[in-house]
Parts: sequence; structure tokens; C-alpha cells
Amino acid sequence: MNRSKTVAFIWLLYALFFYSLFRMALRNSDSSRNYSSASDAVISNKDRRSALYDQMGRDLKDHGPVFLNRGGRTSQSLSLSDIFTIRDGSVAPVLKAANPPVRANVLYLSTQYSLPISKALKPILDPYFDKAIWFQNSSLYHFSMFHASHHISPVPATQDEIETEAAAVRTIAQRLCPLKIVLDRVVLTSTGVLLGCWQVTSGSDPITIRAKLRTALPRAPEKQLYDAAILHTSFARLLGHPKASSKVLSNTSYQIHFFQELVHRLNNELQGFEAVVSELWYVEEFDVLALALNGRMKARRFQLGCSRS
Ligand SMILES: *[C@@H]1O[C@H](CO)[C@@H](O)[C@H](O)[C@H]1NC(C)=O
Ligand SMILES: *[C@@H]1O[C@H](CO)[C@@H](O)[C@H](O)[C@H]1NC(C)=O
Repeated sequence: MNRSKTVAFIWLLYALFFYSLFRMALRNSDSSRNYSSASDAVISNKDRRSALYDQMGRDLKDHGPVFLNRGGRTSQSLSLSDIFTIRDGSVAPVLKAANPPVRANVLYLSTQYSLPISKALKPILDPYFDKAIWFQNSSLYHFSMFHASHHISPVPATQDEIETEAAAVRTIAQRLCPLKIVLDRVVLTSTGVLLGCWQVTSGSDPITIRAKLRTALPRAPEKQLYDAAILHTSFARLLGHPKASSKVLSNTSYQIHFFQELVHRLNNELQGFEAVVSELWYVEEFDVLALALNGRMKARRFQLGCSRS
């Protein structure tokens, strides 16, 4: 009983998070589709991302830190910490099998870049959150691009179909150019997810990558989880109240102010950070949110093959 509630709750959180991004996607999906020249499209994709990130940045202010009082309204007092548990003194996720497995295509950020980011985040966040935080595994920083199957519209596949999909993604990867990217800003969503939002300096644009993947994966869900322009990676998930909180953070406007300050400090450290992305992964996630929660997965790694960038 308890476990099924927990599982239901994981889905609820997951859905909430994707729903907010999905809404942003809908709002943005009509703009900047048909541009005749490449340079127009580059400018427009950049603007489209900026507008999206502005909107995501406002989410916390508009909705408050929902992750703090989740469950407070139900008699079951479920909290975000129910999807995590403390094991050997540290936070561990409660993993749930994904049926059928999710098939995600993600760009991979190498540890050459993810480790410095992770090192910059921890000293700022650790003093406040101690165990009430889950850090993305720094060996698995990734940018979600396109799903061949996801939890909202599952597309079961045989082993042969999976091999065909993977081969198609490999072919796409060979023609894509490595992306030079710059961290535009760090954003905290109202659901407690700390995201890095990136701009593309050169190389294949996420819009192009997603369009090619859609063509290569004709069975994929029509509705994808993200705006076609977005280039974001999850850094951490806040799981509860910060330590400094009890009195200072007793009301919502104080809480919002506190988290905005925190995000401001993270941006001071990280805004403008540059990286190069040169791998596209086709990942079978056997657990819900496997890439985010160190679940079971099988990743096929493909180098982006175009040398011009
Ligand atoms: C982080 O990911 C790497 C690569 O998949 C894995 O070897 C390592 O065990 C993970 N760390 C944790 C804490 O699960
Ligand atoms: C929060 O506390 C501050 C300072 O006491 C006060 O000015 C503000 O109106 C309070 N906000 C709410 C929503 O209670």
C-alpha cells in the first residue's frame, strides 16, 4: 500500500515537472518554424531558448517552492523524500521498474565539464541541504533530446526494433557536429529541480537534432516532453527545507527570496561556463528516471561525426 502510494507519487511529480515544460513547449512551438536562411534560424533558435529560460526562471516566483509543502495538503503527508531513502548515511533513490523501458536519446556532457560544475555547486548547496538534496551523478550529466518511447506514450519495441532504432540514431550522430555551448543560466523550478540552461555557440542546434531524430524514429510519440529548442541538464533535486529555515523561511515570500538568492549565487559561479558536447546516447532506461537516479540502463554511445563545427 505504502509502496504503491510512493510509486503513484513519483509519477505525479514526474508528470508535474514535464507538464510545466510541456506547456512551455506548446507556447513556443508555433514561433520560429519557417526560416528561410540559416543565419536567421540561428538567431531565432537562440531567442527562442532565451524566452523559454526566462519563463522557466519565473516559475519559482510565480508558483513558489511547491516542493517544500507538497503533501501538506493531503492527509497522507507524502513528501518528496518518499522517493528517496537514507542508506548508509546518504540519500538513495527508491527505484521503480519502467515498463516498458523508456528509450531516450540524450546528448552527453563529458566529465571534463560536469566535474567542475558539480564541484562548484556543492559548496554552495551542501551547507543548506545536507541530506535534503539529490545531486545528479556527475558521470551522467545529459541533455534530453528525443524519446523513442516515454512514460506518457509508451511505444513497446522488440529487440530487433530496438537495434533498428539504435542503428538509425548512430547514422544521425555521424552527420551531427559537436556543439560548443555556454551556460546561459541556472534555474530552480517550483518542483525543486535545479537546471542548467544552455545556449549553443556553434555546431548542430537542438532543433535540428530533434528534427533528424524524429525522422529517424518514425514510431516515436508524436508529443515529446520538451520544447524543441531547449538545451538543459539537471544538476540536482532539492528534497526539502533548507537548514537555515525554521523561522526565516516561515512564509512563502521569504522562501522565494531565499531560493532566488541561492540561484543567484550559483549563477555567479557558473554562468558563462563553456563546454563541448560530442556524444549522442541512445539509452534504454529500465528504471523510472534511470539517468537521473542511477537506475538500471543500457546506453549506446555515438560520437558526433561531423568535423566542421
Ligand atoms: C555514477 O555513474 C557512473 C557511470 O554510470 C557509475 O559507474 C557510478 O556508480 C554512479 N554513481 C553512483 C553513486 O551511483
Ligand atoms: C512574510 O513576512 C514578511 C515580514 O514579516 C511580511 O512583510 C510579508 O507580508 C509576509 N508574507 C506573507 C505572505 O505572509
